[in-house]
Amino acid sequence: MAILAQVLDSPYFIQGVVVALLAVLVTSFWDDLSDEIPYRRVPLVGKNWWSDLTNKKAKARFSQSARALIAEGFSRNFFEDRIAGFEAFHQKNTSKLVTDLVRIKLTQALGSLTIPLSKETAATVHDTFPPSDEWKPYNFAYHVPYMVARISSLVFLGQKICRDKEWINVSVNYTIDAFTAARELRMWPSVLRPLVHWFLPSAQKLRQHLRVARSIVNQEVEHRAMIQDGRLPPDDPPRVHTDALDWMRELSQEYDTPIEVGRTQVGLSLAAIHTTSNLLTNIMYDLAAYPQYIQPLRDEICAVAAEDGEFKKTSLLKLKLMDSVMKESQRVNPVGMILLNRLATADIPLSDGTVIPKGATVAVSTHVMGEESIYPQASTYDGYRFYHKRQEPGNEHRFQLVTTTRDHFAFGHGVHACPGRFFAANESKILLIHLLLKFDWKFKEDRGRPKNFEIGTESITDPTVELLFRSRTPEIDLKCLGGA
Ligand code: HEM
Repeated sequence: MAILAQVLDSPYFIQGVVVALLAVLVTSFWDDLSDEIPYRRVPLVGKNWWSDLTNKKAKARFSQSARALIAEGFSRNFFEDRIAGFEAFHQKNTSKLVTDLVRIKLTQALGSLTIPLSKETAATVHDTFPPSDEWKPYNFAYHVPYMVARISSLVFLGQKICRDKEWINVSVNYTIDAFTAARELRMWPSVLRPLVHWFLPSAQKLRQHLRVARSIVNQEVEHRAMIQDGRLPPDDPPRVHTDALDWMRELSQEYDTPIEVGRTQVGLSLAAIHTTSNLLTNIMYDLAAYPQYIQPLRDEICAVAAEDGEFKKTSLLKLKLMDSVMKESQRVNPVGMILLNRLATADIPLSDGTVIPKGATVAVSTHVMGEESIYPQASTYDGYRFYHKRQEPGNEHRFQLVTTTRDHFAFGHGVHACPGRFFAANESKILLIHLLLKFDWKFKEDRGRPKNFEIGTESITDPTVELLFRSRTPEIDLKCLGGA
């Protein structure tokens, strides 16, 4: 008590309290403030330094009008590993392994995957669109991720798990819940996030998804190990192709890097499902809005089937109009208004004297893909745009969906360009073949091409739009697609 009385009487007491409070204040907001140190010489818009020290107003403004505020930068940092639940965003020391898995193993396997992918596509299309002579509504944007998750999971985890409803739920909804949780968390000062996330329902859902994923994937790993050791008989029917779970084991040994398979599988879904679904939804909205492309696309599929018989990887390459339609959809509606997100690992002087400082995150605006000087009548959807380019001598192999250039970088560009684009292209073409041959399509309410929404820097297809489908008789024998 005597000591307490002495402290309270001390002339330094008030100063001490003030200094302590200041220290708490500065450390509390240090993450928010220090975030901007690398950019101190870069002009900013959308933020007033002194009236918005914690960035609260800048964040709200960015959410509402990111296009106008792109120069203000953005954060793709999903809280590193400080917040439980976001682990699938951080592949840490296994990121090279994952990229090589997709770039090398998956791409090399594509030759043997056309028919297995087509069969799984036929099965999911059959389950999703019951045959109907009447027009029936289908909310494409909402439901297509479930089809894409099933087809992709065939290649990520095999036949059994790709039909497991719990896995498909994780594969589709981890990403949605993660983006919701990230948006909600960013509204809190960073010092409070490690506490707040334990109570946020969206963050709780994330952790639950990871628990389910780990349990399903680890069980499968154990199951395969038991078959290999002879403790269990082989699967019936036996597995007919290798998948990403096999490749993870192989690469983990080859690179001498332990890998957490559950988290990595969720990471694959994160990269693959909504990106591919977004592309497919955009294509179907474009085809419903500009139906003049549908019959020529069917004719092209039939011509390739007549030439090749059973579809192969090379048959998909022959679908040049389809490739062009897909690339044009991607040009007009890329996944985001900025891509090519990079971290400057050294100071980078630009020709006008601006220096991108070491440690800064930079990105490139996708508005280039709408530039009139590069794409005449850029705002018009022209499904033949890239098809015609490829007819010019010397261009046969250029302007493909999977080709990345500085004028079309919807899959990124350079060393880090999307390694999954070859798979995404094949998988999407196979699904489109089934959808176009088996059904007619139109909008329930035809109000022209539905506009995409912009949330932050993301471009989202209108989830309220309903398409109508009606069964039709395919003009070719579907044996060429594996049967159904
Ligand atoms: C239409 C579908 C897809 C789109 C539009 C897309 C788009 C992108 C983009 C824009 C990037 C960043 C590239 C850069 O910054 O240069 C990227 C990276 C990546 N994508 Fe995709 N992606 C798609 C499908 C897939 C699929 C199916 C997979 C896996 C099977 C995948 C795996 C990856 C991986 C691992 C990276 C990181 C590459 C690295 O950092 O080096 N993507 N993707």
